[in-house]
Amino acid sequence: MYKIILLINGVFLSINNIKLDIEYIRSQFPAFQDPTCKEWSFFENAGGSYVPQTVINKLNTFMISNKVQPYAEYPMSKIAGNQMDESTNLFAKMINAKNNEILIGGSTSINLYVLSNALKSFISPGDEVIVTNQDHEANISPWRRLSESGAKIVEWKMNKNTAELELEDLEKLLNSKTKIVAVTHCSNIVGSVNNLKKISALSHSKGALVIGDGVSFAPHGFPNVKDLNVDFYTFSLYKTFGPHLALLYGKEEILKKLPNQNHEFLSGQYPYTINPGGPNHEELVSLSGIYEYILSVYNHHFGNNEVTILEKI
Ligand SMILES: Cc1ncc(COP(=O)(O)O)c(C=O)c1O
Repeated sequence: MYKIILLINGVFLSINNIKLDIEYIRSQFPAFQDPTCKEWSFFENAGGSYVPQTVINKLNTFMISNKVQPYAEYPMSKIAGNQMDESTNLFAKMINAKNNEILIGGSTSINLYVLSNALKSFISPGDEVIVTNQDHEANISPWRRLSESGAKIVEWKMNKNTAELELEDLEKLLNSKTKIVAVTHCSNIVGSVNNLKKISALSHSKGALVIGDGVSFAPHGFPNVKDLNVDFYTFSLYKTFGPHLALLYGKEEILKKLPNQNHEFLSGQYPYTINPGGPNHEELVSLSGIYEYILSVYNHHFGNNEVTILEKI
């Protein structure tokens, strides 16, 4: 007997005494039916998760039937644009964000680089930026580069005995000059889960923005970004059953103030202003297949097709 736990929108759905149907789960992943894959045991989950049929179906259908310029007036183009919006809107729902607070980029490393470039405009010489020594390089070096704009980079170091980032150490580093705190939600090195809600409260009390790296957290459950109250949050979709893409959440009121890094005709049209260029259309469309997969696991075990997981929580 297994305990089934689904974490969506930061809420654990935990039901005892229901057997997880492993055969059903495996049957959703074509790779597990592939003879080559059967010769291997897959332990490299840091490299990404396998992709369910629902994601592959969405990608294939788009490539075959809808590979046109989206958002124009003709029917096929409207369908393409709607499918792209459906994916972002479902992910917005899953992490409790607004539809216009979600951006899809090539990877978390790219998302954070692009974001740090945009946030340069918030930095004046003498401002301080806090990075940690518990983070992945992706959430350190883009912020260290802000020293080129005159920022002083301050390192929040792990406690040597516990490998934890202690909140009391953060409190000592924060001051009225701190503009950014970049910290991981879950460490890919030591596995600890940091209390982003408290980190946000402490940082906001000094006027600093919080950038959360959710790459190691999201494969275990999608976060509730409003509850965490982070200003930005990013995770890699290729580690949550999707293609090689990454999601970036940003608070609307801050996205609005960032400079346009996209084409001039998109000026003012946040969140599209953050990324230089558009997303990969077909892969973006396939993301709604992640929602379908999670919903199918839920419905297979709990059997209520009228109530979606999101409505249930
Ligand atoms: C915690 C963490 N942050 C960021 C990254 C970088 O993600 P990406 O490969 O999407 O750039 C990784 C990669 O494994 C990671 O583990």
